[in-house]
Amino acid sequence: MLKVTIIGSGNVSQHLIAALQKNQNTGNEIELVQVYSRKRESITALLDSSKIVTDFNDLVEADLYIIAVSDDAIASVSDQLPFKNRLVVHTSGSVALDSLNNNNRKGVFYPLQTFTKNKEVNFKNIPICLESENSTDFRLLEKVAKSISDKVFAINSQQRKALHVAAVFVNNFTNHLYHLGNEICKDHQVPFDILKPLIQETAQKITTLSPEDAQTGPAKRNDQQTIEAHQLFLTNSNQSNIYKILTQSIQDNGKKL
Ligand SMILES: NC(=O)c1ccc[n+]([C@@H]2O[C@H](COP(=O)([O-])OP(=O)(O)OC[C@H]3O[C@@H](n4cnc5c(N)ncnc54)[C@H](OP(=O)(O)O)[C@@H]3O)[C@@H](O)[C@H]2O)c1
Repeated sequence: MLKVTIIGSGNVSQHLIAALQKNQNTGNEIELVQVYSRKRESITALLDSSKIVTDFNDLVEADLYIIAVSDDAIASVSDQLPFKNRLVVHTSGSVALDSLNNNNRKGVFYPLQTFTKNKEVNFKNIPICLESENSTDFRLLEKVAKSISDKVFAINSQQRKALHVAAVFVNNFTNHLYHLGNEICKDHQVPFDILKPLIQETAQKITTLSPEDAQTGPAKRNDQQTIEAHQLFLTNSNQSNIYKILTQSIQDNGKKL
């Protein structure tokens, strides 16, 4: 039985707790032994209260400690762990492996998805990016990751950084573009709902086509008159600037072909 402890009780922690416990109920070889939380009440609904600790000194021996706290707190939390030579990993896309304290063996267990506490996710479909300092630790991480997900990858720190930046483009920026589209709809009294099937089809299309092949629109077609008409229509300077930058990027990409 592999013993796993989670440190932190936020979004990622709560989803990991649920996934590991679900597993345990199906007789899996991984056991969630303890969860550390600064506030016991944040997770009392999720697991047996005897497994919750609020003091690092109460952590018992485990094969793996997963630190799922805010990026800025990872280093200081790892500094406070009162043991040595155990496997300690964090769950961040952007924090370096070596920000973890040298007292313990280091690794990364980065689930690449957007997590919010009460929004259920199917962990089986969530890619988990793993990194460790040696192959024995990697195999252990892989065993735990594969028990909750069907998509497990070996990703080094540089690749993880690249993935995190790419994720900002495909997730955060895309969502901000939805927000701008919503604003434009509101300003002209049209329901944003009319655009939702288009949003879904755009996301669906890249499951079978490359993003480059899936690109359509006036910039891709080089419909100069339509582009100029859109720019005249946009009186908001922020919307207009973003329209220009993205149009230019699509057209520059076309020139490379
Ligand atoms: N959310 C996502 O979509 C997502 C996806 C992939 C990876 N991640 C990564 O996963 C990690 C956790 O993210 P999250 O979204 O779960 O964060 P979160 O919901 O904001 O939770 C942060 C947790 O860190 C604890 N914490 C903060 N400072 C601490 C300190 N000094 N000492 C002890 N505990 C401390 C908080 O405790 P209190 O509740 O007591 O404040 C809370 O339990 C981050 O590294 C993040 O980059 C997040």
